[in-house]
Amino acid sequence: MWNQRYADNNYIYGTEPNSFLAEHTDILLNPVLSLAEGEGRNAVFLASLGFSVHGVDGSEVGLTKAQRLAHSKGVEIQTEVADLGLFEPLANHYGSVISISAHLPSVIRNRLYPLVEQCLKPNGIILLEAYSENQITRDTGGPKDLDMLMICAKVEQEFPNCEPILMRELEREVCEGKYHTGMASVIQFIAKKKA
Ligand SMILES: C[S@@+](CC[C@H](N)C(=O)[O-])C[C@H]1O[C@@H](n2cnc3c(N)ncnc32)[C@H](O)[C@@H]1O
Repeated sequence: MWNQRYADNNYIYGTEPNSFLAEHTDILLNPVLSLAEGEGRNAVFLASLGFSVHGVDGSEVGLTKAQRLAHSKGVEIQTEVADLGLFEPLANHYGSVISISAHLPSVIRNRLYPLVEQCLKPNGIILLEAYSENQITRDTGGPKDLDMLMICAKVEQEFPNCEPILMRELEREVCEGKYHTGMASVIQFIAKKKA
């Protein structure tokens, strides 16, 4: 499904970074793991600020576009095609993990998120934005599956070894490509791994 979607010559989520990420780069630490990086807009943006970014995604078509975008901007990013249902990040390695619109079923999250906590160094940062369960009635983006949508309580519960710094649900105008456009309900979460 994702390879088909990304076969579009255009960058379907745009080439500009997610705005929540762009507003909070000052809190991020190197190196950065980006879950479900897609076509590279977030990884390339972070690389342009000097971050070392490892972007993982299941779509080789998406990550090929990510490398093309990096090349066009004159930056380097590391990409890896992997199913997040099987992915094993290096333990105690990353300063930050970002997860932008990386909607995964709970069966995958329940395996992956403990590994995400383990892959962070002490005081490492997780930054996540996802559509909330309240998005289910809107047609402005996100999966039509409550299990893949988030609420604050779910995020907090799924990262028990991280101390929330910012956790909120809000409505915001999203303008991030043709599949993510319009007023939307999102969860925004930044947390620090407990030392
Ligand atoms: C809505 S896109 C978001 C892409 C990117 N984070 C962004 O903000 O532009 C969701 C991404 O999740 C990836 N994805 C979904 N399920 C996955 C899985 N099980 N393993 C790896 N990637 C997955 C898709 O390939 C797709 O690139």
